[in-house]
Amino acid sequence: MTHIPPDLITPAGPAPHDASATPIFQSSSFLFDTYAQIEAVFAGRSDRFIYSRGDNPTVRELEDLIARLEGAEAARGFSSGMAAICGAVLPFVQAGDRIVAVEHLYSDAFRLFETVLSRFGVETVYVDGSDTQAMVDALPGAKLVYLESPTSWTFRLQDLRAIATEARRLGVMSVIDNSWATPLFQRPHDLGIDLVVHAASKYLSGHSDTLGGLVTGRRQMIRTIDHEATHLFGGRMSPMDAFLVLRGMRTLDMRMARHMETGLTLARGLAQHAQVVAVHHPGLLAARPEGLNGFGGLFAFDLAADVDVPRFCDALRHIRIGVSWGGPESLIVPGQAACGLAGAANVFQRFGVSPRTIRLAAGLESADLLMDDLCAALQAAQEAAA
Ligand SMILES: Cc1ncc(COP(=O)(O)O)c(C=O)c1O
Repeated sequence: MTHIPPDLITPAGPAPHDASATPIFQSSSFLFDTYAQIEAVFAGRSDRFIYSRGDNPTVRELEDLIARLEGAEAARGFSSGMAAICGAVLPFVQAGDRIVAVEHLYSDAFRLFETVLSRFGVETVYVDGSDTQAMVDALPGAKLVYLESPTSWTFRLQDLRAIATEARRLGVMSVIDNSWATPLFQRPHDLGIDLVVHAASKYLSGHSDTLGGLVTGRRQMIRTIDHEATHLFGGRMSPMDAFLVLRGMRTLDMRMARHMETGLTLARGLAQHAQVVAVHHPGLLAARPEGLNGFGGLFAFDLAADVDVPRFCDALRHIRIGVSWGGPESLIVPGQAACGLAGAANVFQRFGVSPRTIRLAAGLESADLLMDDLCAALQAAQEAAA
């Protein structure tokens, strides 16, 4: 799928007053006229709304939209991507379980596994996801396999079908963070993955003004997530954030086409540049894995030894320094600075993120403008280093 179906551009049901945008149902609870009505909800015979920590009409519309785009039976919205990752993993593991995670995954997911889950007796092993045999060999006896294709910072891909097929055969549940590709470029459920997670804070919302997370999967699994994560952890998506993500998703196809094109142009340009020693972008690989039909605009490159990293960052005129990605503005994160994040130094070393690595999120600006900015900054930083 590379476009949003037209019937998903407008509200799903009849909106009050025939509004063309989904209203924000900013209501914590919902009312009942009779005992029978509330009794039916508590008994699970009615799906009327009752309390927004459990369910809310604006949030449900977004959940239905992402479920359709991912080809899933159901979805749940959370207050951030990290809350969604917790929602997809925590209800399914217990003390003594082992998780197989792809190495070089998102740093806070790594820290969740290392600092929180380890305290509760859940062990995580990290495997090079581009080595399918190594992934498959690690699966027997595991409870869950956690993937990110591509990985953060190193942008390595996995063979999702091969890993998911073997995981299912062994009774290991599979989870993937699909924030980078979005359902427009990769639909992991089609390849056999059980749960798909999104940091909706990134491309889905697309305007750097929202935090949110989503999980999609089979109804049965989402029900399990509901019982624990939705109701008991309480990190539910707010109606306002659901509205903002819904608004963003109505232009997702146009934005993703632009992020992809600009990202590829910059990656190819940097790969030719004398002051750049490596570019980590899946679009530069000779072959694409099954199911990957496009590329997000986030990638990384390594500066040559004669480039002064702080000078390079400070010399950029249009590209700003900042974390996150997926919004209209182009951003860089210098690996050298990220390695200094409190408690993160060992995380980054373990990822093999070099202090000379720069992560670049290509925004919606002109690719020529951005390439000129990068070339001018590289030149200024080399002169400074000389
Ligand atoms: C790949 C990836 N997954 C998940 C997250 C977490 O999302 P959030 O910041 O909404 O918690 C991030 C955030 O940067 C991310 O880059």
